[in-house]
Amino acid sequence: MATAHIQAEFGEIAKTVLMPGDPLRAKYIVDKYLENPIQFNSVRNMLGYTGHYKGKKISIMGSGMGMPSIGIYSYELFSHYGVDTIIRIGSAGSYVENIKIYDVVLGNSAYSESSYAKVQSGYEKDKSYPSEKLNSYISKKALELNISIHEACIHSSDVFYVKGGTDYKKLVQDHGCTCVEMESFALFHNAQVLGKNAACLLTISDSFITQENISAKERQSSFDTMMILALESAIG
Ligand code: ADE
Repeated sequence: MATAHIQAEFGEIAKTVLMPGDPLRAKYIVDKYLENPIQFNSVRNMLGYTGHYKGKKISIMGSGMGMPSIGIYSYELFSHYGVDTIIRIGSAGSYVENIKIYDVVLGNSAYSESSYAKVQSGYEKDKSYPSEKLNSYISKKALELNISIHEACIHSSDVFYVKGGTDYKKLVQDHGCTCVEMESFALFHNAQVLGKNAACLLTISDSFITQENISAKERQSSFDTMMILALESAIG
């Protein structure tokens, strides 16, 4: 049976799902890396596919932008489709000098001002956490593959266009945030509440320090290192 936002039948989605924000990036990864993919979702164009990577079944689906969107999709995947593990693969803006454009970050926590966790389940704290076991597996894989990663706290923000609001330097100072995206806090929280596993890998696409910014087109094709790490970790 389908859910409100995913039309797949039970069994059509693998136990592990990789989630880029952009559904077209999901298609790009599928076309490039998966064998015999079958599309299981097109509701609202939030494309989702199941295929095989090195002989192992894996699904890739877009999450959309922001916590409400990833909150809905990850909840339905975990609670309705028997998904055990979601690895978000996204982009982020760096808040600190030592994390540069194209660097890869593995989130070890997500700080947020969002009300998502409080509204959903009364969770009052402002940090949520990935699965420790999954994170240590991903960092072990990164070492094996000679991929250098930063393990760091992510700021999950509700606001992309900041106009005189929170100063990013304060987020670094007060909460240890090193980069900003818009989804991990909700994903980690859903996994926690439902007894599932989640992790987040990010490629840095822009820098608050240097003002560099890579284009949407460059983003699409330049994230291969992170994708390979996510795929290799997913089949582990
Ligand atoms: N994702 C990539 N760059 C971002 C930024 N600057 N803010 C929020 N999300 C992002």
